[in-house]
Amino acid sequence: MTENKKIAVITSGGDAPGMNAAVRSVVRTAIDLGAEVYGVKRGYAGLIESDLTLLKERDVSGTIQLGGTFLGTARSEEFKKSANQKQSVENLKKQGINGIIVIGGNGSQAGAHALNELGLDVMGVASTVDNDLFGTDISIGTDTALNTIVESIDKIKTTARSHQRAFLVEVMGRRYGYLALMAGIAGGAELVVTPEFEIEPADVAKGLLDAYEKGKQFAIVLVTDGAKNNAEKIAAYFKKHQKEIGYELRITILGHVQRGGSPTVFDRILATRLGAEATKALIAGESGKLAGWCKGEICLTPLKEIVGKSKELDMGMWELGKILAK
Ligand code: F6P
Repeated sequence: MTENKKIAVITSGGDAPGMNAAVRSVVRTAIDLGAEVYGVKRGYAGLIESDLTLLKERDVSGTIQLGGTFLGTARSEEFKKSANQKQSVENLKKQGINGIIVIGGNGSQAGAHALNELGLDVMGVASTVDNDLFGTDISIGTDTALNTIVESIDKIKTTARSHQRAFLVEVMGRRYGYLALMAGIAGGAELVVTPEFEIEPADVAKGLLDAYEKGKQFAIVLVTDGAKNNAEKIAAYFKKHQKEIGYELRITILGHVQRGGSPTVFDRILATRLGAEATKALIAGESGKLAGWCKGEICLTPLKEIVGKSKELDMGMWELGKILAK
């Protein structure tokens, strides 16, 4: 293990509230340990082009409360090409940078693993609103997104109650139903549709009717954007079968509002702790690991053990959600 005294930091993939807090923590921890830090602009797209900027303590002032990422990010298809990955490693090494901190989710950590295989020292920091990254119980940005979703559900419920209406709310998550499940429990939804537990549109219609028959005045169904039966599919079914169904369904697609806004205290602290730990490890010469949060403490998991793996939903929470919807 050789010490890394000149490192880079990058934010990659979908942005997540708390990314700035993680970069701030990386910069100040590294400087405290006597290292120099370079920020990579626009994610892996910027890494290919060697778009770097030296970051000092004052460059991250006033960023802890800001959503998004001041470094910029990208979903770079170009970076998947091995020639571009090799080019990126060469670019960094030419400038005497032998280590990088990668703040991001699944795709970003797969990229981090590839860079590590090419001989660059790499530490990952778990960050994605979807919380679908293996090797961490919770990722930076997930708590903020959940709070945004639940606040929106609370607001929708006030109008739903006034009109005795049924609402469908589509949330993010891609192929992992964590946001829908947790927001369903915290927001009191009647039904939750996820890629893991698909519900056919006809059964959504029956389930909501059942809620009315049980005496509920209004009903909410939450749907993951990556479910086969997403908002579009369910809305189309309701339109086609409106007469037989006998009641209307109002649709709200929350979209990118879930990735925006100021990070919660939880996300700021998680980002700060994971950023600091990853930096200490990288400077000390550790490499090829993801800094995550496991069972109430920081954990470092080899990237090769997390890449390509998918997380499973907590069945206990799923069952609890069903009981609470009664
Ligand atoms: O992975 C984060 C995420 O916000 C998903 O929940 C969502 O399905 C997707 O990204 C949206 O992708 P894009 O940022 O490319 O619009």
